[in-house]
Parts: sequence; structure tokens; C-alpha cells
Amino acid sequence: MKIGIVGTGNISTRHLNEFSKIENVNVEAVCDTNVENLNLFLKNNKEKKIRGYSSLENMLENEKYFDGISNTTPDKFHKETSLQILNKGFNIFCEKPLAENYQDAKEMVDAAQKSKKINMVNFTYRESSAYQKLVEILKSGQLGTPRHVSACYYQSWLASDKWGKWREDDKWLWRLSTKHGSNGALGDTGVHIFDFAVNAVGDIKEIFADLKTYYDKGDKIREYILDANDGFNSLVKFENGAIGTITNTRYATGHANSVILEVFCTQGGLKVELDEERTKWSTLHICQNENINKMAWDIINCPKTPSNYQKFIESIKTNKNLQPDFSQGAKIQKIIDSCIKSNDNKSWIDINIM
Ligand SMILES: NC(=O)c1ccc[n+]([C@@H]2O[C@H](COP(=O)([O-])OP(=O)(O)OC[C@H]3O[C@@H](n4cnc5c(N)ncnc54)[C@H](O)[C@@H]3O)[C@@H](O)[C@H]2O)c1
Repeated sequence: MKIGIVGTGNISTRHLNEFSKIENVNVEAVCDTNVENLNLFLKNNKEKKIRGYSSLENMLENEKYFDGISNTTPDKFHKETSLQILNKGFNIFCEKPLAENYQDAKEMVDAAQKSKKINMVNFTYRESSAYQKLVEILKSGQLGTPRHVSACYYQSWLASDKWGKWREDDKWLWRLSTKHGSNGALGDTGVHIFDFAVNAVGDIKEIFADLKTYYDKGDKIREYILDANDGFNSLVKFENGAIGTITNTRYATGHANSVILEVFCTQGGLKVELDEERTKWSTLHICQNENINKMAWDIINCPKTPSNYQKFIESIKTNKNLQPDFSQGAKIQKIIDSCIKSNDNKSWIDINIM
């Protein structure tokens, strides 16, 4: 199978590596409007003999056949590039967040449905086998009804140099600027934690969110105005009656990239805590049966489950669109828009009537 990649920045190497691991799947061509990034990518992977183009238009004109195209451009470009890809009749694997807002996301869903092409959003943390098991157990009802949910996403790149110096690098600076299409921590990593919680527990009915931008870090660097939120707290009410908190920050010192979900049900609790190195991605914590009165937790080691990249290829092969698809991406986008509205209005927002 032949894969193309649009955008050769930070995450594109993961796309290249993950697709290359799958039997009979090759990344054939890539494009980037930034020639420096394009050339670096081609140089770093020269043994793969990948063809490079300076724009998506160029790539689509010259490459007549792809089984699928990965979209790894920044958030602001997802809509226009994804529509181009779908309109040319290609299956698409798009990075999260699907778009900058729900209206755009909905347009992308409509285009995907019209084209009848496979469409997927890369909600990475679904790749945790412990998370997949957590979802399975919750859906089975063996722990009763979910009552209380705590979900948080911790990064610390604004307070550490673990991933480099954010003040000097465009790849961090666009994430801090609404003008550059960023919805801050909410749009960047908030989408992951909302997808994580909603896919496991069920849809959110109402939300109250408080977004925070810290201006003491400075308000402008070069062309980047640092006005996007650096973190948020939200209170949620799920359709099934459970309540919870969903939070996210870029100031969680001691955590490079941690994604934590705890779900407490009427007959037991579940917890996953994912770390940057993926050492805990197969470890599920469960409290049930006689352990409930002992305050004790068992560990279930969960066998590996397919990656999103594998699921995208499987979807193309079987012509059956596995999750997470563009509709799920749009559903999460609606929650993001609701958080922004809640923060602006300082009120609870009913997501269904957004
Ligand atoms: N799933 C995950 O866990 C995860 C992790 C990191 C990033 N991401 C997402 O991946 C996307 C890219 O992030 P990144 O960190 O790689 O950003 P980046 O800034 O490092 O790279 C983006 C690249 O896209 C190029 N580009 C911009 N517009 C283009 C266009 N119209 N056509 C072709 N190329 C274009 C840029 O020049 C740049 O090289 C973002 O949407 C981000 O949210 C997802």
C-alpha cells in the first residue's frame, strides 16, 4: 500500500515509522510548504527513497495513486488540506484536533461521507491496551454504573526544557497563539483527554469550563501573540448520570506527558495512567469484588492492541471505517467549542444545543 504525508514536522516521523512497520505499507511521497523541514525529513530518511514536494497541490498533481494520505500539518491547516485530499478521492488519516471549530469539523465530516472514503483522526492514547480493556470492562457493565470520573492530561513543556526551549521553536510557539489557529492546551491536548473520557464513559451532556492563559510568560514572541490558554479545568455531567472533572495543563512539572483516567462505578473502579515512554500503557488498575472493602487494587496486564495506523490500514483493506473517525473528531470539537463558550459566558453549556 502507498501512503503520502502532508507536513514533515515533528509528528511526521512517527507517521513514517508507524506506517513503515506494517507489512506491505510504504510511505512513497511527502510534501511541506517549508522547504527546510521538507529537505531535513528527506535527508533523515534518504534510504527510503521518498519523493518530496513543496506543496500538497504539487504532490497530488504528480502522484496519481495513494491508498491513503496522512495529514500532519498544524491544526489551522487541517480543514483546507483534508478537503483537498478527500475531494481528490483519497482515504485520509488526519492529526488531531480535527479542525479549529465544530463548524469546520462538520464540513470535514460531510466531505468524508460524500466521498465515501476512509477517514480517521489520530487520537493516540486509544492505542493503550490498558485503556482498551478499561473501555471493554465499562461497556460490559461488570462494575455497575459509572458515577464519578477524573481525567487529566499533564504536560510540563512551559516549565521545563524536556522537549527543548519553547521560546525558540516555531513548533511550540504556534501552539500558544490563537492567530496561528491554536485553541491552546484545550485544542491541542484537551481533545485527547475528552476523547479518552467520552469514548470510555459516554457522551457529555453539560459542561462548565475555566480556561487560563498565563501572561507572565510574556505576551509576544516574534509574530506569535501568546494568547492561547495554557490549561483548563472543567466540570462535566455525562448523559448516563455520572459526573466528573476533566483537566489539562502545560505546567505539570514532573510529568512530560501523562494521561490519567479514573472511573468509579457502583461496583468498582478502574484506572489507567499513561506515561511518555509507554511503559504503563498496558497496565490497568482495577478495584472490585472483595477488594472494595480492602481498598485494594489489582493490576491487569493487557496484551497489545492495534495502533491507529494499523486500524487505518485495516479500514482501507476491509472498507469498514474503524474508530476514531471524523464524526468522533467533530463530536470532540463540539465539546471544545462548548468549553470556550462556557469560559466566555461563565455558565454551564448544554452540549446538545450548542
Ligand atoms: N496525535 C498526537 O499525539 C500528536 C502529537 C503531536 C502533534 N500532533 C498534531 O500533529 C499536527 C502537527 O504537529 P507538529 O508538532 O508535527 O507540528 P510542526 O509545526 O512540527 O509540523 C507541521 C509541518 O506542517 C507544515 N505545513 C504547514 N502547512 C502546510 C501545508 N498547507 N501543506 C504542507 N505542509 C504544511 C509545516 O511547515 C511543518 O513542517 C498538529 O495538528 C498537532 O496537533 C498530534
